[in-house]
Amino acid sequence: MKSNNLIYKATAIAPANIAFIKFWGKKDSQLNIPFNDSISMNLNRCQTKTYVKFNSELKDDVVIVNKKRIEGTEKNRVVAILDKVRKMSGLRMFAEVVSENDFPSNAGIASSASAFSALALAASVASGLGLSKKDLSILARLGSGSACRSIYDGFSYWKKGRDSKSSFAVQFAKPDFWDVADIVAVVDTGRKKTSSTEGHNQALTSPYFKTRLNELKIRTPLLKKALLDRNFQKFGELVEEEAVSLHVCAMTSKPPIFYWNRGTMEVIETVFGLRSEGILAYFTIDAGPNVHVICRNKNIKRVEKNLKKLKSVLFTITNKPGLGARLEKNDNN
Ligand code: DP6
Repeated sequence: MKSNNLIYKATAIAPANIAFIKFWGKKDSQLNIPFNDSISMNLNRCQTKTYVKFNSELKDDVVIVNKKRIEGTEKNRVVAILDKVRKMSGLRMFAEVVSENDFPSNAGIASSASAFSALALAASVASGLGLSKKDLSILARLGSGSACRSIYDGFSYWKKGRDSKSSFAVQFAKPDFWDVADIVAVVDTGRKKTSSTEGHNQALTSPYFKTRLNELKIRTPLLKKALLDRNFQKFGELVEEEAVSLHVCAMTSKPPIFYWNRGTMEVIETVFGLRSEGILAYFTIDAGPNVHVICRNKNIKRVEKNLKKLKSVLFTITNKPGLGARLEKNDNN
C-alpha cells in the first residue's frame, strides 16, 4: 500500500559555551531575558547533535535525549520550541527529536546551550523556515538563555535587550582570534542539586545582586577590551572576578546555593599554584562544582598534567574555541 507519509527533517550540531561574563538572574523568566549582557566562547569538545523529523504519521512529539525518552518538564521545554517553529512555519505535524552529546552526559557540563541551539537550527531548517542567525539566536534563547550564544562561531556577545525581539547574541570574534583553551576539570559527575534555572530565580534574593549588576557596568567593557586586545592576564583576572561574583550571589541567595565542593577548591588552589610558578591560568565556574581552567595553548600540557594529578579530578576535557550551530552535511537519519 502506498503511504502518503510526509517527512521533513534536518540534523544540526552545536556547541556548549563557557561564559566569561555570565548570565545570572532573569528579568523575564518566561522569555529568558537577562539583567545583563554576557560574553562566551564555544567549546569544540562539548557538542550536541540533534535531528528533528516532522512526520505526518506521529500522534505526539517524541523526544529522545542520550538514548532515553524524556517526558514532563524536560520534554515540555523542547515541545515549546517545536510549537514556536510550527507556529512560524505553519507546519502542522508532530516531530521526533533525537539528541546526543559527544561529551560524557555525566560530566556535569550544562548541555542546555548546545541542546537548544542545535534544536533551534534543526527544527527551523526541517520546517522550511529560513531563519537568520539573529532569529535563530532568539529561538534558541527561548529554550535556554545561554543557548543564544552557541549559534555563532567562536566568541559571542549577548546583548540583554529590552524584549524578546531585542535580546539575542552576535558574533564577537572568530574561533582563530585567540589561542586560548578551556580545560574542564570534572570533579563531580552527578546531577547538580540546584539547576541554573532555579539559580536564576533565586539570584534576585541576594543582597549582593544589585551590587553585582553595578559592578558589571565596569567589568563587562573591561573584559571586552581585554579580549579584543588579547591581553590574557587582564582577561583572566576579570574572568575569575566574574566567576566569584556569580557564586557570591548564589551563596547569599535565600536559600543559599553552594555549587562548590572540596574538589572545586582543590582545583582553584592548583590554578593559584600554577600562577605562582609563572603559568598564566585562570578559573571560571558555572552553576555546578566543575572548574573551567582557561590558559594559552602553549600551556595546555602543563595545566592538564597538574590537574590530572589531583585526586578530586575525575577527568579533564580540553576545549579550543569552537564552531557555532551548523547543519550536518551527510544527513542519513
Ligand atoms: C551559570 O542558560 O542554563 O551557566 O535559561 O534557565 O536554561 P536557563 O539558564 P542557563 O543559565 C546559564 C547560567 C550560567 C552562566 C552563563 O552561561 O552565562
